[in-house]
Amino acid sequence: MAKMNFGGVEENVVTREEFPLAKALETLENETIAVIGYGVQGPGQSLNMRDNGFNVIVGQRPNSPSWERAVKDGWVPGRDLFDIETAAEKGTIVQYLLSDAGQIAVWPTIEKHLTAGKALYFSHGTYADRTGIVPPADVDVILVAPKGSGTSLRRLFLEGKGLNSSYAIHQDATGRAWERTVALGIAVGSGYLFETDFRREVFSDLTGERGTLMGAIQGIFAAQYEVLRENGHSPSEAFNETVEELTQSLMPLVAENGMDWMYANCSTTAQRGALDWWKPFRDATLPVFKELYARVASGEEAQRSIDANSKSDYREGLEAELKSLRDSEMWQTGATVRSLRPERNK
Ligand SMILES: NC(=O)c1ccc[n+]([C@@H]2O[C@H](COP(=O)([O-])OP(=O)(O)OC[C@H]3O[C@@H](n4cnc5c(N)ncnc54)[C@H](OP(=O)(O)O)[C@@H]3O)[C@@H](O)[C@H]2O)c1
Repeated sequence: MAKMNFGGVEENVVTREEFPLAKALETLENETIAVIGYGVQGPGQSLNMRDNGFNVIVGQRPNSPSWERAVKDGWVPGRDLFDIETAAEKGTIVQYLLSDAGQIAVWPTIEKHLTAGKALYFSHGTYADRTGIVPPADVDVILVAPKGSGTSLRRLFLEGKGLNSSYAIHQDATGRAWERTVALGIAVGSGYLFETDFRREVFSDLTGERGTLMGAIQGIFAAQYEVLRENGHSPSEAFNETVEELTQSLMPLVAENGMDWMYANCSTTAQRGALDWWKPFRDATLPVFKELYARVASGEEAQRSIDANSKSDYREGLEAELKSLRDSEMWQTGATVRSLRPERNK
């Protein structure tokens, strides 16, 4: 494990140089990796592992769109695609990639196939706090959490890149939990792996997606767009100044070289304004972030997700909310703006 300096703080990380694919293949050569669930992470992780040469099977409830998708992706029923129970029985490593609510519902089926020496793998730390899932003492309980969507995990893999993942070992029953975890992290296509524990993973993950990654960013987009529209700017102008310039021009620069570099390489007018205004935005949102973290830490946020997504009609409810976002003027404008990108009109 390498120690790296992150802005003055030392952390343990595992890189592909240190733990190459060949070592991961050797570590897992006698394992059957059963990926349970074919939602968003399931396809990304299972397809990357299959392409990397690991022995992977998928467990998904049959007669569902996700099962059909798995078949379309080349998984063959009875060969490497099974119902959840059969896959859990066959797997020596059980990657539990159902929704959090699904994990609670299916747990009795999984639990009975977790015989001594197997590994139970999560991509999220929720189980420890809220789900009531208590794995047997004689299995490894491990986590690899790619820091992004399963779709990006797959896309970046196909482009020869990789998403970073956190990893954690909650229970080391076999004495091999570390090797198994790190090998799985490399197998699913991680760029590098950083160490965490289940609790810190879930707290940071829930904060991030409710915060800057998804919730806060949409909130800030919506507020700025509204102010521009109220002041007579056209939808095109409001959208371009709120979203399109950010995603097309500025964020790729931030991704490449950091916000400091992006600031240093824009006009002095933009620089002056950004340097003046980032602090008021920080001060305005800081109390909201503090409230958010407190709700995450108290378990209220995890419970809310579990309750909402345990309802039998949870997909219909979600779809109605997503539709209202999709139908908003800002995102309808976005669809038109995207259609006008020159590369889409070749
Ligand atoms: N989304 C991401 O990119 C992402 C990123 C990092 C970590 N994670 C973590 O990865 C894990 C999987 O997340 P996800 O987003 O891929 O999952 P998801 O899309 O929320 O879950 C979908 C999967 O769960 C199944 N499922 C849900 N309820 C079920 C039930 N009652 N019985 C049987 N199957 C059920 C679905 O089957 P049907 O299609 O048949 O309903 C589908 O296979 C979670 O722990 C999540 O926190 C996700």
